[in-house]
Amino acid sequence: MDSPLGDANTTLILLALVFLSSIVADVSCSSDDPSLSAFFYDYTCPQLQDIVRSDVEKAFKREARIAASLLRLHFHDCFINGCDASVLLDDTKTFKGEKSALPNANSLRGFELIDAIKARVEIQCEGVVSCADILTLAARDSVALTGGPSWEVLLGRRDSLTANRTAANVLIPPPIADVPKLVSMFATMGLTEVDMVTLSGAHSIGQARCSTFRQRLFDDRGSGSPDPTMQKQFLGSLQEICPRQGNGNAVAPLDFVTPMRFDNNYYLNLQYGKGIFASDQVLFSGRGITENYVRYYSYDQDAFFQSFVRSMIKMGNITPLTGKRGQIRKNCRRPN
Ligand code: HEM
Ligand SMILES: *[C@@H]1O[C@H](CO)[C@@H](O)[C@H](O)[C@H]1NC(C)=O
Repeated sequence: MDSPLGDANTTLILLALVFLSSIVADVSCSSDDPSLSAFFYDYTCPQLQDIVRSDVEKAFKREARIAASLLRLHFHDCFINGCDASVLLDDTKTFKGEKSALPNANSLRGFELIDAIKARVEIQCEGVVSCADILTLAARDSVALTGGPSWEVLLGRRDSLTANRTAANVLIPPPIADVPKLVSMFATMGLTEVDMVTLSGAHSIGQARCSTFRQRLFDDRGSGSPDPTMQKQFLGSLQEICPRQGNGNAVAPLDFVTPMRFDNNYYLNLQYGKGIFASDQVLFSGRGITENYVRYYSYDQDAFFQSFVRSMIKMGNITPLTGKRGQIRKNCRRPN
């Protein structure tokens, strides 16, 4: 078996640790949320998964990027108060939610599609299915539609009554984060360094606004010059899309080689200095563990897909509201 980690002894010890920790993680998950289950809506809304899949598919045919946007929306939901659809709440005069937080404003996409799916689900199974579960399913379908793996989604999340903008400002990792910062921000969510490298592979699809990475192209960390770890041609093409004084809302693909295909090419890109954010590129220039996994995933796409599924399920299990907590919103944009 190919292993990302050095000699045989270290590998064995590490495998044993990974195995043990996965047992511990499974036990703690199932006792925390006894009601999260793949069969949650089997009797109350058996059509649910078909509705979500067909709507995501239709939207994807109109505009492929929607898949990436839904995947990211789920990530930003789960990192703030758990996967509870808090990110979907609109601001009002008296309520400031997560949509207008720094990492989200003018950036998150896909809200209209979630509304449309929710409306269709409400017609078929009124008052039963949470917005949080719809978003989780839509994220899974998005990965599958773009060529990635698929998996069974655990269901039974309920929707929050509130959101936390401050938390969105401080808990969503910024694109300039280094490895220790990324590791600690994922650890706050109960996710490991390996989960972090693995979930970063989501940057295999979608686009980024120039404003999120332009500093690297011209004045990296105030140095007056580009980030020296960027491959020269790659730097050139990004500078063309994002000139120094250009529009901050112009977009570049996260994976220049296969922009709308969910694959392991992201990890190959990093080895060539073609990561779009510093937070991507540092995975190959930082500490050993991330670098080893970047290599490993780049030559074993199956291993990447399997890990990605595990990490997505873990991220989808972050402190859900279950049982009688929270509510089933009628409209994903506001509490009932
Ligand atoms: C590791 C820390 C991460 C950082 C620093 C980060 C940062 C970013 C940034 C700055 C953007 C561009 C936003 C914009 O243009 O306004 C972006 C896009 C994206 N991110 Fe991440 N991200 C991270 C992890 C993740 C994770 C865990 C996922 C999902 C599992 C994800 C999925 C995506 C996707 C799919 C896009 C493209 C969205 C679209 O095209 O609409 N990211 N990310
Ligand atoms: C919102 O998030 C911040 C930062 O994580 C936290 O300090 C604060 O207690 C949260 N507010 C509420 C009402 O939960």
